[in-house]
Amino acid sequence: MQENYIELVKKINNGKLLTYSILTFGCQLNENDSEKIAGMLEEMGYIKIDDYKSADLVVFNTCCVRENAEEKLFGKIGEIKKIKENREVLLAIGGCMMQEEKMLKKIKTSYPFVNVIFGTHTLQNLPEDIYKAVSKNQKVKDVIDIDGEIYEDLPIKRESNFKASVTIMYGCNNFCSYCIVPYVRGRERSRKPEKILEEIKDLAKKGYKEITLLGQNVNSYKGNEKIKNFADLLDEVCKIDGIEKVDFISPHPKDFTDDVIDVIAKNEKISRIIHLPLQSGNTKVLKEMNRKYTKEQFLELAQKMKSKINGLVLSTDIIVGFPGETDEEFEDTLDVVRKINFEQIFMFIYSKRDGTVAAKRDDQVPEEIKHKRFDKLKELYESKVDENNERYIGTIQKVLIEGESKNNENTYTARTNTNKVVIFDKTQKHNIGDIVDLKITESHKWYLKGEIL
Ligand code: 5AD
Ligand code: SF4
Repeated sequence: MQENYIELVKKINNGKLLTYSILTFGCQLNENDSEKIAGMLEEMGYIKIDDYKSADLVVFNTCCVRENAEEKLFGKIGEIKKIKENREVLLAIGGCMMQEEKMLKKIKTSYPFVNVIFGTHTLQNLPEDIYKAVSKNQKVKDVIDIDGEIYEDLPIKRESNFKASVTIMYGCNNFCSYCIVPYVRGRERSRKPEKILEEIKDLAKKGYKEITLLGQNVNSYKGNEKIKNFADLLDEVCKIDGIEKVDFISPHPKDFTDDVIDVIAKNEKISRIIHLPLQSGNTKVLKEMNRKYTKEQFLELAQKMKSKINGLVLSTDIIVGFPGETDEEFEDTLDVVRKINFEQIFMFIYSKRDGTVAAKRDDQVPEEIKHKRFDKLKELYESKVDENNERYIGTIQKVLIEGESKNNENTYTARTNTNKVVIFDKTQKHNIGDIVDLKITESHKWYLKGEIL
């Protein structure tokens, strides 16, 4: 059905060499959706360019996890409006924000020049939406508010030739009280294991070496009789010849079962940095966040993972200034950070999201206090960075060469299996996409230096 629309648009655009550009906001799931959008647009004959201000078709793939994303989007829409005054541009806006009723209304009423609006559950209809917009000059709104089905075999244009993200499950059932994701991405639904493994085997055949399994809550993945759960799936992915590095994002601490830990421990291919979102270190706040673990349970889990998995480091997400959070409760977060020594911390200031349970509370923390706590956490985190990086000096790291360094064409850049950037001199023998052994020689604040062995 959508193939017909792809053909129709292709015919209309025939010979025009029209360009497209996608601006992606938010998480890796959105990035993966954008690769699918790119796949469909390329099939329709559009040619990719990076500068969205010069493109004939512009897609904004939106995020609504935090409020500042909205302001950013309005700014970008304003830029396109100006361009539209001088030449034809087709503007399509999709993604999570369009699943929010309030935002959808605002875009429809305040920005009538937007040509296509699509949601997260209707991504696969994009060819039809674009067809209606280009052939009939219709304003298209294609957003549905159901939990969404899983659409397989959409065309996809991947950003890299050796690293690929593969979505294994969609949606979230957790309803953390601050989070809007369950409302815009719908309930949890897992892809069939056969489909996932088929996709990864195909990627391996095409030369892909690094796979990131994606989902809002990957470790609550549900498979079939044979590949029952996330542990089984991880194990199967590691067995695929040609795949050298396996990563996943994001797991939930409450579902981090022993079988998952054991599979990681025995498979060297799996990344040695695991993202374990803490959110808060205080048990009362965690309960109000509906996170389903206590401070002690989190510490115990982290300890168990580190003792069972060789060379493991952890990264995390932390929210400061959740409604009602007191200074003492925030101290518990700092305490956990000191105890666990996270390799990477993604820090967020609590942002009130309409429709969530926490947004209704009347004990919101004043902005000033939220910022103070953020700065304190940042200071603690940054004070650990040097110490953590120095630990790498003298170690041997097996890395995949990702590309030339941004500022120096004589050096390559790669990442350790704990996601640290390493820069090293190019040699004649090695190319982008190769896996090499590096000896780490220097540590800097945000990167390491190494030598090929
Ligand atoms: N305010 C601030 N941060 C949030 N996150 C999710 N919702 C909010 C919110 N309302 C953060 C969480 C999550 C990450 C992806 O975004 O830390 O893990
Ligand atoms: Fe949001 Fe919690 Fe679901 Fe993560 S697990 S997407 S924070 S509701």
